[in-house]
Amino acid sequence: MPLSNKTLYKNVKMMLLLLITLCVLTSGHEITQLKVPLHADPRRAAELSCHFRMDDQKLHSVKWYRDLHEIFRFNPSQKTQIRLFNVTGVMVQGGSCEQESCVVRVMPLPQATRAAYTCEVSTEGPMFQIARQTKHMTVVAMPDKDPVISGAPNLVRPGEQMLLNCSTDYSLPPSDINWYIDNEIQKPEAWQHTELSAPLAGGLRASWRVLRVRVPAAASGALRVRCESVLQVDPLVLRDTVATVTVNTRTQLYDKYVSNRGVDISENANSVVALVVFTLISRFMSL
Ligand SMILES: *[C@@H]1O[C@H](CO)[C@@H](O)[C@H](O)[C@H]1NC(C)=O
Ligand SMILES: *[C@@H]1O[C@H](CO)[C@@H](O)[C@H](O)[C@H]1NC(C)=O
Repeated sequence: MPLSNKTLYKNVKMMLLLLITLCVLTSGHEITQLKVPLHADPRRAAELSCHFRMDDQKLHSVKWYRDLHEIFRFNPSQKTQIRLFNVTGVMVQGGSCEQESCVVRVMPLPQATRAAYTCEVSTEGPMFQIARQTKHMTVVAMPDKDPVISGAPNLVRPGEQMLLNCSTDYSLPPSDINWYIDNEIQKPEAWQHTELSAPLAGGLRASWRVLRVRVPAAASGALRVRCESVLQVDPLVLRDTVATVTVNTRTQLYDKYVSNRGVDISENANSVVALVVFTLISRFMSL
């Protein structure tokens, strides 16, 4: 059965489309790999690299951009092949390019910023075709250590007040701090916000936050006090430390015994009496 005119037309159209697509796909040069670190440490230069395939085309230039600003240009046919441009937010230290790759080193400024880095490869005239790829880099210095809790007593009584302090390692951006008691987040009072240290090289800062909290009257057993440091980068970086505080719910007599155990009890006649009475009671009870 012969093909109808309509079907024939449809098939020809499809073949033409396919042909055009193939031409576009194969005729161009392309960027095969763009390497931009996700995180850049503000204390060291970061290396960005761009690999490309030219096919039969001749390389005209390779340009690097930070956001919309050009920071680096490679023109193999010009006398000054490499040019660097200083823009806000980054210092371009240098770079080197070959026929199919280009590497630049940038020193980020000590600010926790996220920027887009683009590699742009163009062919010689008359076509001047452009291939482009972009990746993001965030300036961040991770904390090396877990936060540290200080001021946590080993033993507390119900109703007693605790003053705790949590301090974090240096980082950029500085860590936020959250306090939890038995997995319940503790809302800060106005004077208990996260405080920051002076900056080190690279803009890194340590932080700390105090927590003043009363042991609930009904508390018993132990309290699980947790300090969490949060680095606001994407994805979030969390570190934490736990301190366990034992709640003493025994009688006054026992308290006296405990609180005097470490001192010379002969100085305190009352304690001696209390201790003797306590010991007798304990003996009696355990019989
Ligand atoms: C970029 O700035 C740095 C520091 O201010 C300077 O040492 C360097 O020469 C500048 N580079 C260019 C290409 O202007
Ligand atoms: C908490 O710890 C930090 C860091 O060690 C210290 O600088 C700060 O003075 C402490 N704050 C209190 C109220 O103890």
